[in-house]
Amino acid sequence: MGAVEIKKDIFWVGAVDWNVRDFHGYSTDKGTTYNAYLIKDEKVALFDTVKHNLKSDLVHNIHQVVEPGKIDYIIVNHVEMDHSGSLPDIIDLVKPEKVFCSANGKRALLSHFHREDWPYEVVKTGDEISLGTRTVRFIETKMLHWPDSMFSYVNEEKLLISSDAFGQHLASSERFDDQLPLSELMVHAAKYYANILLVFAPLVQKLLASVAEMGLEIDMIAPDHGPIWRTAPDQIIAAYDRWSRQEARNKAVVVYDTMWHSTEKMAKAVCAGLEKEGVEVRLMCARLCHRSDIIAELLDAKAVICGSATLNNNIMPRMADILTYMKGLRPKGKLGAAFGSYGWSGEAVKHLGEAMTEIGIDLVHEGVRVKNVPDHDGYKECVALGSAVGRAVRQAG
Ligand code: FEO
Repeated sequence: MGAVEIKKDIFWVGAVDWNVRDFHGYSTDKGTTYNAYLIKDEKVALFDTVKHNLKSDLVHNIHQVVEPGKIDYIIVNHVEMDHSGSLPDIIDLVKPEKVFCSANGKRALLSHFHREDWPYEVVKTGDEISLGTRTVRFIETKMLHWPDSMFSYVNEEKLLISSDAFGQHLASSERFDDQLPLSELMVHAAKYYANILLVFAPLVQKLLASVAEMGLEIDMIAPDHGPIWRTAPDQIIAAYDRWSRQEARNKAVVVYDTMWHSTEKMAKAVCAGLEKEGVEVRLMCARLCHRSDIIAELLDAKAVICGSATLNNNIMPRMADILTYMKGLRPKGKLGAAFGSYGWSGEAVKHLGEAMTEIGIDLVHEGVRVKNVPDHDGYKECVALGSAVGRAVRQAG
């Protein structure tokens, strides 16, 4: 993939990572891209770099546009290593006049690369730099999703270079949203939001409000991952508004792990109860479904119901994994319940309930435990649990 002109004299010069499958615990089964952008004006500016192992792709792409030594400014919108891993080598190659970053960005760059000698220029929200015919305005987006994060907005182009926000982990030969099915892009964008930004939902709301207050006209959003939003920037902004308000529909995620299929049978009965109440169901075995896909399904669900067999007086390890991950992402306003089979002690349902309560999930049923294999009565209890949650989902409006 070579450099791609996204607007006149503005180029995508990033790298496509077709092979990455794990992104610090997030399953990137379609790979990703690390987007870097280059503006050729009286001053030449590079926005972000790429993961270190793909540095040669970035250098090759820059070469297609300008001699790297002609780059005057490097703008570091985000210090996480997928965007800064190549930065030391690029700075050595380019010898830029200035490296722009937020105050937190400078601190993060120093603690990552320990280079006091770089020509840092700290900027804050509202600061602008001129590239000649174009002006770049900076907007700090602290904790979206790192303390250093910021947006760069090119006034004359109505172009928002948005760092991780509005991104998707999706490797593709296409660079623009209208070259791929929008429904597919939205699935990837939702998964990205759920796994990276859900915990910061209130800050996303504040950011959207302040962008509206600034009156920024946005013609194109160029994120640091995935295709560029040139046709549907409004749709992705509207989706972020919905997701950050944690709007949910009549949908429940039933996530479970099982030893000898008893808890699995119970899970199916729970689903039958939910379905009776007209609730859409996603049944996900924690041992087969990746945690990041479970969280993606949870994003617009009103309920999560957890099941686990009792193993060594505790819950199954994969359930502990998903509950720990969920706790970190702090989903809001979810209803739930717990169930599971056991052989002799049967603590799993209690432990599930405690973990769910700690996450903030409102338990609307006392839970169902079944000894060994569910009989017809056990099956009915599970259907009743599903129905109870289903009614609560409907009543939640
Ligand atoms: Fe794509 Fe937060 O790095």
